[in-house]
Amino acid sequence: MIQKKLEAVIFDLDGVITDSAEFHFMAWKKLADKLGIYFDREINERLKGVPRMDSLNIILERDSIPDRYSQEEKEALANEKNDDYVDLIKTITPNDLLPGISNLLHDLQNRKIKTAIASASKNASMIVERLQAGHLFDFVADAGAIKNQKPAPDVFLVSAENISVPPENCVGVEDAAAGIIAIKAAGMVAVGIGDKNILKGADLVLPDTAALTYEVIQEVFG
Ligand code: BG6
Ligand code: MG
Repeated sequence: MIQKKLEAVIFDLDGVITDSAEFHFMAWKKLADKLGIYFDREINERLKGVPRMDSLNIILERDSIPDRYSQEEKEALANEKNDDYVDLIKTITPNDLLPGISNLLHDLQNRKIKTAIASASKNASMIVERLQAGHLFDFVADAGAIKNQKPAPDVFLVSAENISVPPENCVGVEDAAAGIIAIKAAGMVAVGIGDKNILKGADLVLPDTAALTYEVIQEVFG
């Protein structure tokens, strides 16, 4: 039997490591406004953790004409959003790590606890590079190579496998409802960052990353 011991913390990226979730919102809002489709922060919550095309389809649910766009047109719209998003993330610097994250990552590294990024974003590597944080992670998952997206557990399981840690010895950290479901489905302890009414099912929800320390993670791990 494997001894239960905290061996790894697997992080979502957007909205957990840096505030790129806000850039996703801004880029989608620009596209929705251009298309004349209503879009607000409540709808945006449903986009968190969800792949690009699925996010576009959620936005298009509010279009006055259903199925207005062909698959090809939708791909062009998703690319347009991504171009705007990439322009926004080009402004990211190492100062954009969210509060407490730099200390936490160094603390985990000193304690020989492994770390990974399990993001649904195809831009994850670019963001990690802009943050100059690559050396603080043992693995960054490639969203393009993941079969089933969140809320499926795949990206968390693939990350755990790549750092050679059994899922039951991992804690996952997420700001998206779909992400919390994915972490629990992977058999890991889940820490949510944000609103506890949205992140139902998490083992612990913190209002922001400032409160996310090794001690807190160890305590919820039990
Ligand atoms: C997730 C975000 O991390 O990545 C989602 O929470 C986003 O909002 C998804 O849609 C895909 O990102 P990208 O960069 O590949 O369009
Ligand atoms: Mg997120």
